[in-house]
Amino acid sequence: MSIDGYLDSAGETRLLLSNEADLDRVDAVRAACDAILVGAATVRKDNPRLLVRTQARQQERLARGLRPSPMKVTVTGRAQLDACANFFAAGDAEKLVYCSSAAVAEARSRLGAVATVVDGGQPVDMRRLCEDLYGRGVERLMVEGGGTVHTQFLTADLADELQLVVAPFFVGDSRAPRFVGDGGFPWNPDRRARLVEVRRLDDVVLLRYALSARFTMD
Ligand SMILES: NC(=O)c1ccc[n+]([C@@H]2O[C@H](COP(=O)([O-])OP(=O)(O)OC[C@H]3O[C@@H](n4cnc5c(N)ncnc54)[C@H](OP(=O)(O)O)[C@@H]3O)[C@@H](O)[C@H]2O)c1
Repeated sequence: MSIDGYLDSAGETRLLLSNEADLDRVDAVRAACDAILVGAATVRKDNPRLLVRTQARQQERLARGLRPSPMKVTVTGRAQLDACANFFAAGDAEKLVYCSSAAVAEARSRLGAVATVVDGGQPVDMRRLCEDLYGRGVERLMVEGGGTVHTQFLTADLADELQLVVAPFFVGDSRAPRFVGDGGFPWNPDRRARLVEVRRLDDVVLLRYALSARFTMD
């Protein structure tokens, strides 16, 4: 996020917040996960590939009997997603779409050939989603945004760890998406989150918070 807590600009083009050192760190985190989740707005706006970038990390996964990149997961209420988006088209990882009950039929007809569509409730319930993923062998899920999704995982107390990277500039436009929206967060002045690491990566800083008893330092 920016210094003032935004994930993007308010404009059409994607705002680059990370630097090379941080992108490489993110690549390592991705490679260590079983699945990566982003919200449908991020699939539409950023068109991310969500693949492990470096060959060495892909090879390392293959040697562990895994696919080169983790499973990809998204969540949608309206199912207005393009089957040709990079999320679906890039890489041979399994793709899962958790869809609100009312739009499951629409999602299956649009995306059934490129992804597994799962009825996630009305709207999709993130705890139920996590339990379903666990049943599919996902023990470590990386949630990469955007803010709507962050807010739900954090307010529902589902996250074990928060990795927050601050880029050295301001966005200064309240129309831009924020890191989180309004909500009842379990961490507040009376229950402070546990800061476990501060790491400088060139001109950005990584803050790691342990949010649950399941947190382990790697
Ligand atoms: N800086 C970063 O690291 C970073 C990372 C990711 C994203 N971003 C930015 O964040 C912005 C997008 O963030 P955002 O908060 O607007 O959107 P988002 O979290 O990416 O996606 C929100 C969408 O996900 C679906 N959704 C979320 N919760 C749901 C639920 N419980 N049930 C059913 N569907 C649900 C809905 O999709 P439908 O609309 O399809 O119903 C909703 O509109 C973009 O500008 C992107 O560039 C930045």
